[in-house]
Amino acid sequence: MTTLLILTATAIGLLTLAAWWFRPIVQAVAADLAVTPAQRRPVPPGLADPDCGIGATLMAAAASGPGASGSGGGSAPAAPKKPKRKKPTGPDRRAFLRNSWLLSMGGVLGAFGAASLGFLWPRLGAGAFGANIDLGPEEDVLSSIAEGGGRFEFPSGRLYMVQYNAANDPDGQYEDITNGASVMAIYQQCVHLGCRVPWCESSRWFECPCHGSRYNRWGEYEFGPAPRGLDRFPVTLTDGNVFVDTSTIVTGPTQTGGVLGEPAAGPNCNG
Ligand code: FES
Repeated sequence: MTTLLILTATAIGLLTLAAWWFRPIVQAVAADLAVTPAQRRPVPPGLADPDCGIGATLMAAAASGPGASGSGGGSAPAAPKKPKRKKPTGPDRRAFLRNSWLLSMGGVLGAFGAASLGFLWPRLGAGAFGANIDLGPEEDVLSSIAEGGGRFEFPSGRLYMVQYNAANDPDGQYEDITNGASVMAIYQQCVHLGCRVPWCESSRWFECPCHGSRYNRWGEYEFGPAPRGLDRFPVTLTDGNVFVDTSTIVTGPTQTGGVLGEPAAGPNCNG
């Protein structure tokens, strides 16, 4: 939708620019069309003779000119008036071609720029990554986590929700990202090289298919080349509703800094 709006605005802008650019040509054509037959310039007398061709006219002009031999010194007949060349009122052909080329290039670059902007513009809809996402009542989120076997996936926010029990975190390591809520939000992006990390049903861990990193249910490091646990998003409770601020990424715990870990429930998916 944003892309469509930007492209429409660009098209309107280009059409306006083109209309302004070609205005002198349009005015010149209109001025030509406005001349009536009575206003047209009279044809020079020599050229008006139907029996006289261009060659004959030129010879007559040469014979009657001031330097002509055998003129006898008398008053020379008036030379036929040269037709005046009409001064062009619009841009000449070279300028027209140059302007057309510049206009075309401007149009192409403008359309490309608008399309790129539309593609890169952040889509901060209510539930999109980058926004403060309202996931609804906390009890509903907890139900969804239980139904999902230990996690609830929210793809448009690129996050997983897992249950958080403060009693299992006596040092309060995750207090500042849960803010009193019973849930925790985990970023789906692998901290090794950025692949999306899927949930493994059999182990109930998050296991990266790219290079084999594994994280437990709370996104803490368990195995593989990842330098730490998965990153998180801060959660807040407002009127009982869970909000996840996906504009703020909190670095995950170190490889040995996990406190909620539990062994795999079954075979690993990427093993
Ligand atoms: S990107 Fe996940 S292990 Fe490399």
